[in-house]
Amino acid sequence: MTQSTVERPSDASHGDVSRHDNTPRYIAHRGLSARAPENTLAAVQAAHDAGCEWVELDVQLLGDGTPVIWHDAGVKRCSNGRGKLLKLNAGSAAKLDAGSWFGAQFRGERMATLEAMLELIKHLGLGLNLELKVCRGRNAIELVQAALPPTLEALPADKLIVSSFDRHALTAARALESDPDRLRLGVLDDKAPKQWWRETERIEAYSLHLDWRKLKVKRAREIADEEIKLFCYTANDPVTFEKLWDWGVDGVISDDPTRFVTHAKEAASR
Ligand code: G3P
Ligand code: MG
Repeated sequence: MTQSTVERPSDASHGDVSRHDNTPRYIAHRGLSARAPENTLAAVQAAHDAGCEWVELDVQLLGDGTPVIWHDAGVKRCSNGRGKLLKLNAGSAAKLDAGSWFGAQFRGERMATLEAMLELIKHLGLGLNLELKVCRGRNAIELVQAALPPTLEALPADKLIVSSFDRHALTAARALESDPDRLRLGVLDDKAPKQWWRETERIEAYSLHLDWRKLKVKRAREIADEEIKLFCYTANDPVTFEKLWDWGVDGVISDDPTRFVTHAKEAASR
């Protein structure tokens, strides 16, 4: 690979990630969030029922330190409550209805604790891309310390990828588990910086997760030439995404991966 501006240090290495062959191609974003309320047990069950093998979920802490599966800093968009997640404890969070906003049939769906979610994922045999979601003003280290040990305990290495936009969270995660074969880390970014490899090498990452709309062919091919996996979020149209497979993208994070599977099957039968 040629770097346009800065040469990569000759002794730099990604570690041997080539031994991992369980690379997910389709990952259900926040569970099957096109068909069920995002980040809930129902969304994960729906993903499984639709044939998905991997889900992406966001984890954060409640004010009392309980890790929960939730995307926003507040609860208004995806529940019948208001205010910040930080203001809730396990008891008050469990009273929220996190399903009705999506559809009446999901009424009574609860905010999932990480513990309950891991149990379900294990039971269903799914792979998990857990995103450490560090909202503004929240503590990345506390999140890693609370969320990572039970996740590592629950899932085997080949069924887990832990990703984050937050560099402190990634650093803390790597400090907690130094073996890149035991903990596969993913660097999340909207757009890969020119020296994208600096961050992936620093934490011995397994993967880079980028916004597919901002990805350019040159950068995608550079990444694909390296021993690092490239995932793209959040794509829902398999037709416009088609060219990205040719660029070397390994997997897509989609609100509805079944569209991609159907499209791939149709293309194969033509
Ligand atoms: O992990 C990919 C994607 O989930 C990142 O963005 O905001 O949907 O968590 P967001
Ligand atoms: Mg996410």
